[in-house]
Amino acid sequence: MADFSYTDAIDQAKTAALAYYDGSDELMTDAEYDHLLDRIREYEKANPDDVVEHGLFTAVAAGVSVGGNVTYDVPMLSLDKVKDLADIESFVDRVAAAGGTVRLEAKFDGMAFNARYENGTLAQVSTRGDGVTGEDLTDNVMKLHITGLPKQLGSALADGVLNVRGELLMTRDDFEFSNANRVASGKPAFANPRNATAGSVRKSDLDYDVRLTFMAYDSDRGIQDGNLELAGFTTSSGLDIAADSTDVIARVLAFGDERKAADFPYPTDGVVLKVVEPEVWAALGTTSRAPRWAVAYKYEAETAVSAVLDIIEGVGRTGNISYTAIFDPVTVDGSTISRATLHNPSIIAELGVGIGSVVQVFKANDIIPRVGRVVENPEGVTPYIPSDVSPSGAPLDKSAVIWRSTDPADSIGALISYAGSRDALDIDGFSTAIADALVSGERPLVNDLGDLFTLQFQQLANLSLGTTEKGTKRFLGGKVAEKILANIDAAKAQPLNRVITALGIRKSGRTFGRRLANHFHTMDALLAATEEDFLTSGIEGVGPERAALFHEGFQRNRAVIDKLRAAGVNMGEEPEQAAEETAAALPLAGMKVVISGALNGPLAGTSRNEANELVERMGGQSSGSVSKTTSLLVSSEVGTSKWQKATDLGVRIVTPEEFAEMIGR
Ligand code: IVH
Repeated sequence: MADFSYTDAIDQAKTAALAYYDGSDELMTDAEYDHLLDRIREYEKANPDDVVEHGLFTAVAAGVSVGGNVTYDVPMLSLDKVKDLADIESFVDRVAAAGGTVRLEAKFDGMAFNARYENGTLAQVSTRGDGVTGEDLTDNVMKLHITGLPKQLGSALADGVLNVRGELLMTRDDFEFSNANRVASGKPAFANPRNATAGSVRKSDLDYDVRLTFMAYDSDRGIQDGNLELAGFTTSSGLDIAADSTDVIARVLAFGDERKAADFPYPTDGVVLKVVEPEVWAALGTTSRAPRWAVAYKYEAETAVSAVLDIIEGVGRTGNISYTAIFDPVTVDGSTISRATLHNPSIIAELGVGIGSVVQVFKANDIIPRVGRVVENPEGVTPYIPSDVSPSGAPLDKSAVIWRSTDPADSIGALISYAGSRDALDIDGFSTAIADALVSGERPLVNDLGDLFTLQFQQLANLSLGTTEKGTKRFLGGKVAEKILANIDAAKAQPLNRVITALGIRKSGRTFGRRLANHFHTMDALLAATEEDFLTSGIEGVGPERAALFHEGFQRNRAVIDKLRAAGVNMGEEPEQAAEETAAALPLAGMKVVISGALNGPLAGTSRNEANELVERMGGQSSGSVSKTTSLLVSSEVGTSKWQKATDLGVRIVTPEEFAEMIGR
């Protein structure tokens, strides 16, 4: 067993729980998290004197503070887990002894929400939070297209207050639809439906359409009230009522197979076993964390065993050190995997993984390969010790869980590759392999972003791309070099927001590139801005951390920006009188424009990002959501939620064809 630090383990679990419960990120899989909690439990058993109060086992949401501004009179509880089939059996027997029967429901894998109706109208939608207080996300949720969450209830349910609880998620169809729109708007695809759900409800300015589904599993009036379904809720109708424990187990196993089908409609990671009879609920009671009349059983992910061949350290575009395990290829859930991220040094230490370790691997959320645990460290294999320095020998900043290189030169490969990507300067034909080749070697051709714009034809044509399998050297060649040079040249005219994005300043990407360009207009203004200027800019999402990073980032990039300017890269318009006058004459001057749905007509094929840029070039301001201040909605469909809102608010609506005409396309 690797070194185990009790306090570090608690910190890790809390950090992961916080990220999970507020839906921002999944730092560990359920299996990793459960394993960590087991280790903490074991340690506490062996060292009772060291035990500190942490709430990981006893509180809803592991005791992390994810609460908010909405207080629940009836707390939103968690569910206790049953680990194996024997536990299921004893739960069913306990229920039978109390005179109850058990029904099975799918355990939906999304985010728990409370929907509050007042006199039949949806009034508030909030997260589970810490169970007693949740976070009010009504404004965001109201803008979204959610199946199974009616805004208005029929007369049978229209009296007084009704709270309906359930899981907000993306079905397979929702996920496909939402991800396609997200990618079309120029953003990277969501990794899985859960991230997609959390990401969508937490954003107030989504600039692409998403679809979600609400699965109701509890309400003030019970869940089997037929009126709920009539009103449009999707209730977890139950996989069935089971007769006895043998029957329950058979059904649990059968559902475990069913959920694996490629066309299974919604994300589910287990089953919930619930007592049917309300009288029996009362008899069994509730703990502060979970009811005793329901339990959850989670299916294990399919795993395979492989041997770690190597552990590779890399540097991301903002300097973060990454660790990747390379292992003998194995098949899991129908696809072959041979590498998995090891996240960070503390997870590596916790796993005790080294080169040569025999490990259990699996696919988290059925997509991303992970190392679950070390099955065995054969003789001579020792846990991997992450390097004290970056791959190029620079000292590391180890003050956070993720270590960072202190040398900007380390991240240049990842940065150049990012600068050329669709999100930034969009240089067609440019690839990670080319970026890597440009920045490596004794005398790299590219040492910073500026160098990209002074590359010569011969240098590129002769760029070495390693050796082929037969041992002959490969070069980029004249044809490709010519094409890439032309595309680099074209990239000089990219709008300022893309140039900013390409600088790869920490905590900035596509979105902040745009927000910064909209606010500051020129690179010179960004270079002149103080930390205070960023902080008080009113730019959404810029707090003290970003203000400091942005200020530092632009100052550090002065020399690079000089090179870019000298090469003729767009540095934004000078805010001269003349420029302002021209701006006022542009067709969308002063207008706040929302684009919804696909663009057809003359603008067909324009991506969402391109369309937003077009709006800005035409003097307008692009926005993702319709509000009182919206001047124009461009919509190819009628009846969508944006269309409805614009109609309600009296906002002018035009078709993509009319819009094209307005801007002279
Ligand atoms: S019943 C009083 N039924 O899983 C507790 N919960 O891990 C009522 N969940 O907090 C919960 N599917 O957020 C119930 N069919 C289902 C569920 C379900 C998913 C969630 C719920 C719960 C968590 C516990």
